[in-house]
Amino acid sequence: MAILIGDTAPDFTLESTEGTIHFHDYIDGSWAVLFSHPKNFTPVCTTELGYTAKLKDEFAKRGVKVLGLSVDKLEDHAGWARDIEETQGSALNFPLLADTQGEVARKYDMIHPNADNTLTVRSLFVIGPDKKVKLKIEYPASTGRNFDEIIRVIDSLQLTAKHQVATPVNWKQGEDVIIVPAVTNEAAKAKYPEGWKELKPYLRIVPQPRG
Ligand code: BEZ
Repeated sequence: MAILIGDTAPDFTLESTEGTIHFHDYIDGSWAVLFSHPKNFTPVCTTELGYTAKLKDEFAKRGVKVLGLSVDKLEDHAGWARDIEETQGSALNFPLLADTQGEVARKYDMIHPNADNTLTVRSLFVIGPDKKVKLKIEYPASTGRNFDEIIRVIDSLQLTAKHQVATPVNWKQGEDVIIVPAVTNEAAKAKYPEGWKELKPYLRIVPQPRG
């Protein structure tokens, strides 16, 4: 069964470059990003992991714990980490899981047999503090993901969780947002005493809430 947005992220226990990870305990009320990369010592993966390491402060600011996963062995992760630091200018600063039996890859549908029967595709899950899947994306091995976009989506998800607003097309941090349809005008008045721009009854625009 595929894992869908809104499902509880399956739990697992795996070895990583930073020790044993019990996933649900590891989340521990934080947000989490779990992403797979097809194979160690490959070019696109090397750039993705280096860039993710550079985003450490951005993830930390948002209370997000990051976990990488491949079906390679732990010993290989250590050797590859040196290459990542050398070529990308940033050392790995988050755990890389060694899913050598493919147990987690299968649980999370990260292996797409018609693409490759043994390696994972580039799957990425954003998981909320409630352990529910909030976002999933899947890219082919040959296309590196846009981790700035992942940060943007996390900002949107966190605004929704905290302020019951949605974000419009191509929204960027600081731009106007939309009051979600589930919020009645009465409730919106209490939250936004200065009002909102109503383009349609279902399209109510407010400045991005702060805090
Ligand atoms: C890469 O990371 O560069 C890669 C991995 C597997 C297949 C193709 C590219």
